Amino acid sequence: MPVKRYEKDLEKIINNNSYRILRETVKYGKNLVYQGKKYLNLSSNDYLGISSDFEIWNSFIKNKIINKNNFTGSNSSSRLLTGNSEHYTQLEDYLAGLYKSEAALVFNSGYHANIGILPALTTKNDLIINDKFVHASIIDGIRLSEAKVICYRHNDLEQLAEILSKKRHFYENVFIVTESIFSMDGDIADLKKLVSLKNKYTAFLYADEAHAIGVMGNRGLGVCEELNLVSQIDFIIGTFGKAVASQGAFVICNNVFRNYLVNKMRSLIFTTSLPPINLEWTYYVLHLVIKMQDQRNHLKHISEYFRNKILSLGFESNGSSQIIPLIVGENSKCIKFSEYLQDNGIFILPVRPPTVPEGTSRLRFSLTANINISEIDNIIRLLKKY
Ligand SMILES: Cc1ncc(COP(=O)(O)O)c(C=O)c1O
Repeated sequence: MPVKRYEKDLEKIINNNSYRILRETVKYGKNLVYQGKKYLNLSSNDYLGISSDFEIWNSFIKNKIINKNNFTGSNSSSRLLTGNSEHYTQLEDYLAGLYKSEAALVFNSGYHANIGILPALTTKNDLIINDKFVHASIIDGIRLSEAKVICYRHNDLEQLAEILSKKRHFYENVFIVTESIFSMDGDIADLKKLVSLKNKYTAFLYADEAHAIGVMGNRGLGVCEELNLVSQIDFIIGTFGKAVASQGAFVICNNVFRNYLVNKMRSLIFTTSLPPINLEWTYYVLHLVIKMQDQRNHLKHISEYFRNKILSLGFESNGSSQIIPLIVGENSKCIKFSEYLQDNGIFILPVRPPTVPEGTSRLRFSLTANINISEIDNIIRLLKKY
């Protein structure tokens, strides 16, 4: 039977300790309940604690939804047919205003953004140079593009400079592609240096700020805001599914690129647009996010505290953000470690290949602003005991 092949592959995945399942959880603020047991949630990207804050949700429903009757739960059409609406215009105008940019364009998700933008903008005469650790969605976008691709070692900008100096003149357009905060390592790309390289070699810079939106910068606009580089990055990608506690994504770019993407980007054109209620919620939450400086400061403080403690216990870690990996190595050891923490009320999952390179399976502690120092101290006590 042809299905045998898939059963065999699944067996291999199981034997390799890489088998994945879908878990049904219920979130209560910073905690969640899984199979009847309560845990502290250290595996979400709800960096500002908004996603499970019922007060914020209830006030949105009360003030913006009930008795308003000006929208429903679906657009039932792509944006290019009848799915575009005032809710998109409101959100995109607001984003462009926040970033003081010519334009913003909203997508259904970060995945849609990353698989669509680079293929739309590149031809076989162009070159994409990407950091080796960029997110799977960017890799998939690169695979869909006709451009030539070269990847540089993670955050090795000397290697990037070498590639640019040797290869730039062979290509019409060159795109340098990076994340700002890397999703699995929590370290931060040197955007200043990247801007200077892209200027020197007349390239475009594409920076995915998925994990920095809400977290970095005075108003939470990302590392680009923190370093005062907003106007110098050609494509700033942000997602709404993490700190903004919604669904969708955006790019900040100039008008020409926006118009081009509307005409050419397949993952924008050939998909049903976001529901109006979702766009309204994103718009509502963004107004809160830009004012949540106290939460950002607290998150920064607990992240530094936790990372330093982990390193002082002799564990391997890296980065300088709210994403704190504890590198374990082998899959089976990583699974055991995560099970020990789960037994002690901490919801942490092993991150394994292919999400991270072979031999670097890890616990990825994803801190959120509603966690307090005594909860961090409790985790440190558990790590010490282990
Ligand atoms: C860096 C990065 N970009 C893009 C995405 C995809 O975003 P979305 O979840 O909105 O599809 C993710 C998701 O984890 C991510 O980590």
